[in-house]
Amino acid sequence: MASNQYIVYTDGSCSGNPGPGGWAALIRHNGDETEIAGSAAMTTNQRMELHAAAEALRLTPPGSIVKLHSDSAYLINCFKQSWMDRWLKNGWLNSRGQPVENRDLWEQLLELSSERKVEWIKVKGHSADKDNTRVDLLAREIIKTDNHADSGGPPYPQISLNGGIKGKGSEERVGSMRRLGVLTGGGDCPGLNAVIRAVVKGATYNYHMEVIGFNNGFRGLVENDAEVINDRAVSGILNRGGTILGTSNRDNPFDYRPGGSDYRDTGRDRSADALENIKKWGIECLVVIGGDGSLLLAHRFSELGLPIIGIPKTIDNDLPATDVTFGFDSAVTTATEAIDKIHTTAESHHRVMVVEVMGRHAGWIALQAGMAGGGDIILIPEIPFDYEHIIKKIDERRSCDKKFSIIVVAEGAYPSGKEPVYQNKGKVKRLTGIGPIVSEEIEKRTGIESRATVLGHLQRGGSPTSYDRVLATRFGVKAVELFREARFNEMVCLKGNRIESVPLKAAVAGTKQVDPQSEQVLAAIAVGTSFGCAF
Ligand code: F6P
Repeated sequence: MASNQYIVYTDGSCSGNPGPGGWAALIRHNGDETEIAGSAAMTTNQRMELHAAAEALRLTPPGSIVKLHSDSAYLINCFKQSWMDRWLKNGWLNSRGQPVENRDLWEQLLELSSERKVEWIKVKGHSADKDNTRVDLLAREIIKTDNHADSGGPPYPQISLNGGIKGKGSEERVGSMRRLGVLTGGGDCPGLNAVIRAVVKGATYNYHMEVIGFNNGFRGLVENDAEVINDRAVSGILNRGGTILGTSNRDNPFDYRPGGSDYRDTGRDRSADALENIKKWGIECLVVIGGDGSLLLAHRFSELGLPIIGIPKTIDNDLPATDVTFGFDSAVTTATEAIDKIHTTAESHHRVMVVEVMGRHAGWIALQAGMAGGGDIILIPEIPFDYEHIIKKIDERRSCDKKFSIIVVAEGAYPSGKEPVYQNKGKVKRLTGIGPIVSEEIEKRTGIESRATVLGHLQRGGSPTSYDRVLATRFGVKAVELFREARFNEMVCLKGNRIESVPLKAAVAGTKQVDPQSEQVLAAIAVGTSFGCAF
């Protein structure tokens, strides 16, 4: 957990000179406290000190408690002896009635300190002084790295905004901002925008980092279609479905086909281009928000040395390393509402109504929405069904004067001894079509009028539920924390009600399916639901 208490040491040019026009910082974590030593070199001495203080303060999150140590009497007195108040009252004129120099930097400092609880501490003004040792030593550590032995050596190069340079003697060294990349991959899903918002806000509000968004999933990474996403860009998107970044489930950088996999037979390995683009942007870690396909690609990139943090997304809820994926609750809510509405026609027309829901090879959506919507028969891939048992249940209901029945069927469900039903489009096989087949078969065998409704992409659309908005936000915030703690190649996850993380490898190991013996399935059976099988 990143601490919320900071000790900031600022230094102008005298001992920690990072070179003409340069700025460098050293950050290290000490139990509950974080130490930041900032050192700057600008054109005049006072500007150096102010610049170092402002930049170092920027590295502390708004709202935090900061003890700022400086050897500049001028800087400290301005705050401690209320000189600033006087300047503000006098329209930035000093006691001699002259304009205050470096007003731009003073204004920055004023704003930064108003957002934090800053205690200004003056330390004695020479590197040889005992009290000044900490400021001086830390500043010296900054310049000791990367063959720049001392301030007498070659000037330290200006650290670019991309920052994040590791150096000997320091835990990490940063420029003005560290950069995090983010992309959304695979099918769209309610809650994607909520995660993007959480990553951007979490990174910029708390850690003064910059987030680079790649458009259209891994395609943007290969084509270098990316931009900075700032706080304003994520304003008002919490409740919006889809993804502001766009997505794609057809663009594999290791087998890349420009028009998508439907259109060309052979692909090229463009992973090197993707890595090059990461380097160009100075990104230290890529956050991949996706399902098993995208996380598998992310895992391959992690094996090539790219630090990755995964966030589990899918309406199917079929990822093994998390109890729940975001998007699932929204899909279930949509499917439940649909089943509620289908009831009206079923009841009025005494029909058998079949509702096909998504979920690939896992029956989570069918089970959850089927139970919530009061489905009489739930068919899931984990329990192959027999028509005899379905018809037995329909007859049973009719004998109790219940003239209609609702069947909720997962797209991956299939009769025992048969295979799941696919529809082919070009080279892509789509798992769908079992709903109409079940409906026709029942009408043929019973003579009862039956209709099928395939809910399809309705389940991926619209606003995320409040549950998904909160889960997505918690996932996004956790991803930023993992980055701060340099815990890469992990995926955030939900265990019970705790947000945790697991190795990325575990996240892509297989599919999480419904256990036919689980308490939830048994509860459904206990209230009379049939799974189209003997039990
Ligand atoms: O994984 C999410 C999902 O909606 C599945 O439930 C479904 O089988 C699949 O994606 C459909 O993908 P597409 O939008 O590419 O047809």
